[in-house]
Amino acid sequence: MHPIPRDASPDSTLALLSEGYRFVMNRCERHGSDIFETRLMLRKAICVMGEEAAGMFYEPDRFTRKGAMPITTLMLLQDRGAAQTLDGEAHRWRKRMLMALMEPENIRRLCGEVAAEWRAALPGWERAERVVLLDAVRAILCRAVCRWAGVPLAEEEAGPRTAEFAAMIDGAGAVGLRNWRGLLLRTRTERWARGLIEDVRAGRLVMTEGDAESRAIHAIATHRGLDGNRLDTVTASVELINILRPVVAIAQYVVFAAMALHEHPEQRAALQDASPEEVEHFVQEVRRFYPFFPLVAGRVRTPFDWRGHRFAEGTWVLLDLYGTCHDPRIWNDPERFRPERFRGREPGAFALIPQGGGGHLRGHRCAGEWITIEVVKTALRLLTREMRYSVPAQDLALDLSRMPAVPRSRFVITDVAPRRKA
Ligand code: HEM
Repeated sequence: MHPIPRDASPDSTLALLSEGYRFVMNRCERHGSDIFETRLMLRKAICVMGEEAAGMFYEPDRFTRKGAMPITTLMLLQDRGAAQTLDGEAHRWRKRMLMALMEPENIRRLCGEVAAEWRAALPGWERAERVVLLDAVRAILCRAVCRWAGVPLAEEEAGPRTAEFAAMIDGAGAVGLRNWRGLLLRTRTERWARGLIEDVRAGRLVMTEGDAESRAIHAIATHRGLDGNRLDTVTASVELINILRPVVAIAQYVVFAAMALHEHPEQRAALQDASPEEVEHFVQEVRRFYPFFPLVAGRVRTPFDWRGHRFAEGTWVLLDLYGTCHDPRIWNDPERFRPERFRGREPGAFALIPQGGGGHLRGHRCAGEWITIEVVKTALRLLTREMRYSVPAQDLALDLSRMPAVPRSRFVITDVAPRRKA
């Protein structure tokens, strides 16, 4: 057994904030190890990366997310009482309700809403001098997910709601002003979501007969916990927000897909009449290559041994998601964007982990992973097959110390025109 290498610095919080996505990778390289110990916010933390580490981390019931994330991030991204903060049977029960919304037919319906909103936005883009893709796609996704989830959204509400979700996403990895803005706007969103849950429960918001079950708002408002009781209004509203907001966040992957098309024109040409598998490979490579959530944190719930080390109850462990997606032991030439790497290869449950690893039902792996993949595929088809556009000179640099990372220009397009089918 080798001792776990230890960072010399008394506290590495500032290094984490300045190195961002590369913090764990940099130190793993330095220590020649995929595990090391450091101190963050004055607490001892064990950082790990790679497929084996992900397997260790995602063994069901080993870790709790409670008390594992800095509290402001937790409030912006998941919040107390939400599925992510539950453990054991209570977690599985809630997760089953969420995963029931992820049936292929229901995901297809969401993609249909996305395509309809996108096509409705196109004439406006054609008239506009320039379109900021990140903002435009967030607006499309906000309208689409509300319609899909059974959430009424008046025309004048769409802008403010999109802005609130965007502020929560942008504020998640920040300290200071960006985070405070997210928290402030979140209070407004929560009030709105609580009102919606109450409306469903009081029969003021009636779903069309037959498809109520597939509507997120109905499923959440009527869900009964293991104790047979409905979720309290605050928890139900948090779960609803936790479906709506991350769908809006998919806009970041759509922008990354557009960046990849721009930087690899040969891929754009190939996608024109690519098979569904090839489109999927492209999307998987977007999720592998581009930065989203840098890491996921857990505290040991059930003590265990790994590689001869004892992980005692309460130990704080951080798994590097970005680093694992760029780990040369798993990915040949990881810093190159190569969708072909997925040809004939099913990525393992612990290798391609931008949205967490392991199983969806038994563990904390992202409930919206399939939605994410299908929505990005839909956007990719729209970008390559239904429209033409130019990408003017702009600052597309990705700042890997800013979490979440987005290109500085937020991806501007001009000269938008419909692509006529041959
Ligand atoms: C959890 C990433 C989109 C719903 C997570 C986790 C990550 C993640 C890293 C934590 C996994 C863990 O704790 O081990 C992402 C990324 C997305 C995305 C990068 C891209 C936009 C979505 C979407 C939805 C969603 C579209 C819903 C429609 C959830 C839920 C959880 C979760 C409910 C908690 C799962 C649990 O604790 O069991 N996601 N997600 N996410 N995500 Fe996502």
